[in-house]
Amino acid sequence: MSFMEKLTETTQFIQSQGVKDVEFGLILGSGLGELADEITDRVVIPYESIPHFPVSTVVGHAGQLVYGKLAGKNVLAMQGRFHYYEGHSMQTVTFPVRVMKSLGAESMVVTNAAGGVNTSFSPGDLMLITDQINYTGDNPLIGLNDDELGPRFPDMSQPYDKEYGKIAKDVADELKVTLQKGVYMGFSGPTYETPAEVRMARLMGADAVGMSTVPEVIVANHMSMRVLGITCVTNLAAGMQSNLNHEEVVETTERVKAHFKELIKLTLERI
Ligand code: HPA
Repeated sequence: MSFMEKLTETTQFIQSQGVKDVEFGLILGSGLGELADEITDRVVIPYESIPHFPVSTVVGHAGQLVYGKLAGKNVLAMQGRFHYYEGHSMQTVTFPVRVMKSLGAESMVVTNAAGGVNTSFSPGDLMLITDQINYTGDNPLIGLNDDELGPRFPDMSQPYDKEYGKIAKDVADELKVTLQKGVYMGFSGPTYETPAEVRMARLMGADAVGMSTVPEVIVANHMSMRVLGITCVTNLAAGMQSNLNHEEVVETTERVKAHFKELIKLTLERI
């Protein structure tokens, strides 16, 4: 079966479950999936029931699509995403973004947990992603290009939508929530970085480092979707604090998730 046939089959299956007119795709990162619990008029679809969807394996990721209304918008949220380090290809990791677009989404909100590289950041800060560095060594667009989906050589001059970013910043100011701005650098994972890699990342212009987001945003740009990206800085990156563990990542997202949810909801409302 060709990629386009799979995409059509998945899209039609999701539509058959009652999903229609998606405006925004939402990708909810580690510990941030609770936002989907606030979606009303819901249709919930577990990943394992969706044709051509893989199953996510990371603790703290529910593994389902939630469709419905959030802040007055029709959204399709991924509660749990697929990561390259799980062994999925970049094409598989980004397949849900193709599906969102195919269901009508012209915009995407992408969120993640990441390590702070910028020395002025603190654990618990939220960061508006202004740009990204693909340091995974791979790219989801490698291979034959389907011109129906997007161009062979996509422009990445504005990977994150400036207008959306400005709205999010204004909302954060109103809510008195700290919203840093910065560049997200995507590594393959699953290891956290070494202190030397973190120094390299900073020299290269990164403000935060993580293991997701970059492939999804490449594919969204390929299809000319507008992207809003929000990082939760869950820890300072390696070498900047004593040591790192997944528990701290989960604890920090627990602590800031109320602010995170308010920021996304009010921003969605104004977009
Ligand atoms: N590095 C990479 N990914 C992460 C980190 C980190 O320090 N924290 C949360 N996700």
